Amino acid sequence: MRVLGINALFHDPAAALVVDGAVVAAAEEERFSRRKHGKRPVPFSAWETPDLAAAWCLRHAGVRPEDLDAVAYSYDPALHLGPEQAGVHDPWDHLRLTYAEQAPGFLAEGIPGLDPDKVRFVPHHVAHAASAALAAPWGGSCAVLVLDGRGERHSHLAGVYRDGVLEVLASQQLPHSLGLLYEDVTAHLGFLRSSDEFKVMALASYGTPRHAEALRPLVHATGDGGFVTAGVDLGALTKPRHPDEEWTAEHADLAASVQLVVEEVLLDLARWLRETTGETRLAMAGGVALNCVANSRLAAGSGFAELWVQPAAGDAGTALGGALELSWRGGEPTAPFPGADLGRGWSDAEIEAVLRTAQVAYRRSDDVAEEVAQCLADDGVVAWYQGRSEFGPRALGHRSLLAHPGRAANLERLNDVKGREQFRPVAPMVRLDRAREVFPQGPVPSPYMLFVHDVAADWRDRIPAVVHVDGTARIQSVDPATEPLVARMLTGFERRTGLPVVVNTSLNTAGRPMVDSPRDALECFGSGPVDLLAIGPFVVHRRWAHEGLARS
Ligand SMILES: [Fe+2]
Repeated sequence: MRVLGINALFHDPAAALVVDGAVVAAAEEERFSRRKHGKRPVPFSAWETPDLAAAWCLRHAGVRPEDLDAVAYSYDPALHLGPEQAGVHDPWDHLRLTYAEQAPGFLAEGIPGLDPDKVRFVPHHVAHAASAALAAPWGGSCAVLVLDGRGERHSHLAGVYRDGVLEVLASQQLPHSLGLLYEDVTAHLGFLRSSDEFKVMALASYGTPRHAEALRPLVHATGDGGFVTAGVDLGALTKPRHPDEEWTAEHADLAASVQLVVEEVLLDLARWLRETTGETRLAMAGGVALNCVANSRLAAGSGFAELWVQPAAGDAGTALGGALELSWRGGEPTAPFPGADLGRGWSDAEIEAVLRTAQVAYRRSDDVAEEVAQCLADDGVVAWYQGRSEFGPRALGHRSLLAHPGRAANLERLNDVKGREQFRPVAPMVRLDRAREVFPQGPVPSPYMLFVHDVAADWRDRIPAVVHVDGTARIQSVDPATEPLVARMLTGFERRTGLPVVVNTSLNTAGRPMVDSPRDALECFGSGPVDLLAIGPFVVHRRWAHEGLARS
């Protein structure tokens, strides 16, 4: 059975293809269109479908649009709640309903050959839930928690999956929404809504949660699996920040306060779900599940023995979940998530053709892992482009920018290379067998950078570039069994420096999507002070450009 999943309505349009129960391709439209998040999350753009991502998924698998058995669209217009009842103060919100109803036609227009009668509407939070529970690495039953901004009429779902069937136990109706509250704070603090929420989380570490007492009566769990968030007047707590204004302690305090109160609500919701279901495993998705600080609190205090967050937890992941859901309903058990590298990949010959066309001086490396390790040990910055691109917002060793973690100045250096705010931390990748020694608390393995870990006291001075102001780091543990090349690079770096850790941040510059194609990689490499591009088996050294040497 061949099922195409589509996320389109709100933000982060994406496509995924599930064949015989296994996900074979998943990608966000932004990687193809080169427009961050694919589109702005406004009602006027709700009709836009991820045509480029969908066409690639089909091409990759050799499936013609005519051959699809079903197409999942991760929003059900029949469940749409009017803006007044939902408390959505947007006079154009009705466009979303209209465009969702017409989605089969838009998809048939954008993907020639696709039969509009094959399109099925999957409720938004069912798609989120399936993206976590049906993809989780364990078989059997589990609890599931969707923590979102908004779906058709709800902002959250708590339930249990047994034999692949979802039983919904609680769902909080709008306007109460932890995701929308966090988006409001993001906009209030001068950042981009539905995009920069992780900046609020980073800023929270610099603040004191002095508004938590004022917030708790308005933002709290209700003891029945739901919660309230309505009536928060952010302006009464802190003046709004203009995007051009420097951030102050006041802004950090607001971020810290909201972060803390949201964490408390999430902890209550997860504990309720644990007690209600008796399950020991929890799968999570929804944009709020990308909050790795909150995830760590849940891992430590919710009572669940295992917690798995699907790495494309935001709306892009509903493309995956919708396809998995229809596949399951069609009688095909779904396979566990194979890893986040579900996007485009390129053969060595294809990469070399791009390098030749660009007329850059390159050569085939004797050992790309060792050559990169040496460059990093010499304090170089490396653009690392290997294998298929990642599905979801994190660079996980396929489209990454790497640096030496032992030099404190590398944090500022990387933020400068990328054009990012200086309060933003950069994250470490660490070999799985050394992760527990350097990062003694928090879930390990942690392959998707979705939890924060305390850095061991005796390691903080050794890897200062990756230690956030609160003494934590958002780690990626690297298993040689699944990421052999990255693991060898880490081993080579440790042999030279004694450090099993490398700085890993996404290969892009501020405001741009992550690098996806070899051409994107060359553009990014050409525009910033990056010392080495390691692209497939080839290397391009910046110094060659200065020396004018032809190495091909
Ligand atoms: Fe969502």
